[in-house]
Amino acid sequence: MNRTILAANWKMYLNEDTSIDFIKKMSSDIESFSNSEVILFPSHTCISQVQKELKKLNDIKIGMQDCDIHTKGAYTGGVSLHGLSHIDFCIVGHSERRLLYNESDEVVKNKLETVISNGVNAILCVGETKEQKNDGNTFTVIDAQLSILPKDAISRLTIAYEPVWSIGSGEVPSNKYIEDVLSYIKNKLKSLYSDEIVEKINLLYGGSVDKDNINRLLEVKLIDGFLIGSASADFESFKAIADKLN
Ligand code: PGA
Repeated sequence: MNRTILAANWKMYLNEDTSIDFIKKMSSDIESFSNSEVILFPSHTCISQVQKELKKLNDIKIGMQDCDIHTKGAYTGGVSLHGLSHIDFCIVGHSERRLLYNESDEVVKNKLETVISNGVNAILCVGETKEQKNDGNTFTVIDAQLSILPKDAISRLTIAYEPVWSIGSGEVPSNKYIEDVLSYIKNKLKSLYSDEIVEKINLLYGGSVDKDNINRLLEVKLIDGFLIGSASADFESFKAIADKLN
């Protein structure tokens, strides 16, 4: 059986000290995570230190929460995928980037290309706002967000369905709702790629995931794992989620 992916999006919750503290706690409790495939997404400024601290835990993957379209040159403040020694994953198109930093589908498309062409695994986030949901536009929105995918073969892709109205709100969709959207995503992928490629694209759910809802969410067959924000930035609550998988 495949292990469940637990992608920890620490956003701007932890600094260097609290990130290192988290890793230390994790190191001494690593058996709690034996059924999880953990990917940590620290703040960019903490990644190097976290990587050093993670040396002994070679099973834990590390990722960037975002990256620049460019990898080199005169781009003040940009964060390059090449700036760090080794990165396994990079999140692209998180709704906070789309909404707070005005990232268009075109920008997300360019970032996705940069990530994949540099040999890094991409987690592409898609999801509708409350208003779009209430207007009955969920599938139209998802369709537009997925229209940036290349038409030919793709590798190193994971898709995270994160309804914007569920992020940080404590409001989690029903399993039926999530299942319908993930089926829609799966069918869209099948219309683009061979079964062999689609098989390799993991689907995550994200939005207010915690220890109290993880078990019912796991009943959704299409879910390969979770993209977790606030509940992943506190070691005890992250461990409580992982414990539910054991
Ligand atoms: P949340 O965030 O778990 O705090 O809702 C999820 C995310 O933004 O990826």
